[in-house]
Amino acid sequence: MRHLIDFGDLSRREWESLYARASRIMDNPAGFIDACRGRVMASLFYEPSTRTNFSFQTAMLRLGGTVFGFADPSSSSVAKGETLKDTVKMVSGYADVVVMRTPWEGAAKAASLYSHVPVVNAGDGGHMHPTQTTADLTTITRLLGRVDGLSVGLCGDLKNGRTVHSLIKALAKFENIQFFLISPRELAVPDYMRAFMRENNMRFTAVTGLEAVIPQLDVLYMTRIQRERFVDPLEYERNKGVYILTRRKLDRAKEHMLVMHPLPRVDEITVDVDDDPRAVYFEQARYGMFARMALLADLANQPRLDRPQAVEIGTTPVCRNPRCITRTEYYLPPLVKKNGGVDCCAFCDAALD
Ligand code: NCD
Repeated sequence: MRHLIDFGDLSRREWESLYARASRIMDNPAGFIDACRGRVMASLFYEPSTRTNFSFQTAMLRLGGTVFGFADPSSSSVAKGETLKDTVKMVSGYADVVVMRTPWEGAAKAASLYSHVPVVNAGDGGHMHPTQTTADLTTITRLLGRVDGLSVGLCGDLKNGRTVHSLIKALAKFENIQFFLISPRELAVPDYMRAFMRENNMRFTAVTGLEAVIPQLDVLYMTRIQRERFVDPLEYERNKGVYILTRRKLDRAKEHMLVMHPLPRVDEITVDVDDDPRAVYFEQARYGMFARMALLADLANQPRLDRPQAVEIGTTPVCRNPRCITRTEYYLPPLVKKNGGVDCCAFCDAALD
């Protein structure tokens, strides 16, 4: 693996070896204090973040590496109109690995075309967030001992929730998962995710109610309604507060069910749930740091590419998704891929029509 842009970039074997390394780190952190000695991580956060930013930074520091970057793009040259390509070419001259979070979908993929060092997608708009998935799978494997055969409920904003999209991509690599997609109809998973699930013969039931399915679940993955992604504020108003997990609703859940959440939560899990032993979202955030340590120990130590392959120069955007990186960075090549037989933008996955 050279970059981590989409969880689909990892094979199950690669994931298993990443998890094995994360486990070794958790069991013996002292054995890894020099794993990234002399290595430097660039952290480009164009969008707010607490956990992802801090867990990447602490992961690198705990491996003996160092970190630079910004958490506020107004303090960088983007504010002067610099292109993503130029920023990445330059930053990848300073760093051994580049971690980036952006509001633009496909931005990490775009960056990877020009970077001399591995690029990690720490969240691109409402599209993907593969390192959150490494946190999620580490949590599930560590606490339930397996991922195969589980019944997983994904609840909330499945349309804009990038953590959900990446988790579904990852779970396609496991056997016999039963999904419950719990969302209001207008916040159901995007078409490209539905096509992906069909193509991979994933078993899913889409429902609008949470309570009726709780007793069947091994994992309940709650998500926040992603206010910042709504174009229509009224749509947000209609959907906010739609699912609220309370202690009482957990009465009918299995004893070993995990309540997970990528965090931050707004109101979708009441505070009284925190003390239930099934609530593991804060542990999940800590597992995320170990999973990121395992990832950085590999990526930050890869040889630098002196000359990335030349990339075709685009002229006009072919993708119509207003949040796609190709809508603002015109030089990007018009890359196309198939999702369920349909031509889609290779940056943001939106169908091309
Ligand atoms: C998530 C994100 O940024 O997508 N947070 C995180 O990385 N832990 C979820 C969210 O913001 O709701």
